[in-house]
Amino acid sequence: MFAKDYQHIPVLLKESIAFLNVKPKGTYVDCNLGSGGHAEKIKAKVIGIDMDQEAINSAKARLKNIACVHDNFRNIKKIVKEPVDGILFDLGLSSYQIDEASRGFSLQNDGPLDMRMDKTQKLTAAHIINNLKQEEMEKIFKEFGEERFSHRIAKAIINKRPFYSTFELKEIVEKAIPTWKKRESVTRIFQSLRIAVNQELASLEIALKDAITLLKPGGRLVVLSYHSLEDRIVKHTLRQAKQAGRLNILTKKPIMASEEEIASNPRARSAKLRAAEFK
Ligand SMILES: C[S@@+](CC[C@H](N)C(=O)[O-])C[C@H]1O[C@@H](n2cnc3c(N)ncnc32)[C@H](O)[C@@H]1O
Repeated sequence: MFAKDYQHIPVLLKESIAFLNVKPKGTYVDCNLGSGGHAEKIKAKVIGIDMDQEAINSAKARLKNIACVHDNFRNIKKIVKEPVDGILFDLGLSSYQIDEASRGFSLQNDGPLDMRMDKTQKLTAAHIINNLKQEEMEKIFKEFGEERFSHRIAKAIINKRPFYSTFELKEIVEKAIPTWKKRESVTRIFQSLRIAVNQELASLEIALKDAITLLKPGGRLVVLSYHSLEDRIVKHTLRQAKQAGRLNILTKKPIMASEEEIASNPRARSAKLRAAEFK
């Protein structure tokens, strides 16, 4: 993989940078570095974190002045030693990760049932699909995918497993559901597995709480989320910190991408930006 292959258009870029209120002598943390699309517009000292080594390689090759850390942002307190002026989260996956069949996230291209953002981790989607009990799998589909046919789908998987490729999984999900809205169910099942494999929601809860403690007075927290389960955690965490008198919320309602941005980058459609300032 070459840096040029790492395709990703940063979402709500101008808005994210504006809410960070960048001070040229300040220090900022980009918790979802990706290929550095946001980080390169932060004209100050930047610490970039990503749990995907390919993202780190791409950002390092493109941007020379960023301290790149290959780690999970849930470890932000260990990574960042001093209070900072701003912290950015741009959650989820990059377009590169989604489109690259070998990563196992793509609905369009067949690949291994992997879905790890951090390839050094052991747990894969194949392990979940081929080893969990029916109730455990059903719980993942229900909680992280909000899929109403979770029971039927888990049962069908148990009866026909093992599965090793994303298209095999897609096919069994499509066969298991009784409606014609098959694509939506497949999308929800893939989302739920991805969240489970990468422990996305648990990491987000930990990281957001810790990030707030790392801000200087007047420091900014900016979070871009892409589905309702993430946004719920962001909204509640910011609200709790506000009630505790620690943050001012700067976005009463989340900022969404303009029609123009969505037309040029469809992945911006589901983005929600929330921002806050440490008191
Ligand atoms: C939407 S992309 C970020 C794109 C980046 N803002 C850009 O413009 O190039 C999300 C990135 O966050 C990383 N990521 C997701 N969850 C993470 C976590 N818990 N810890 C560290 N990195 C994470 C993914 O590997 C992916 O590279």
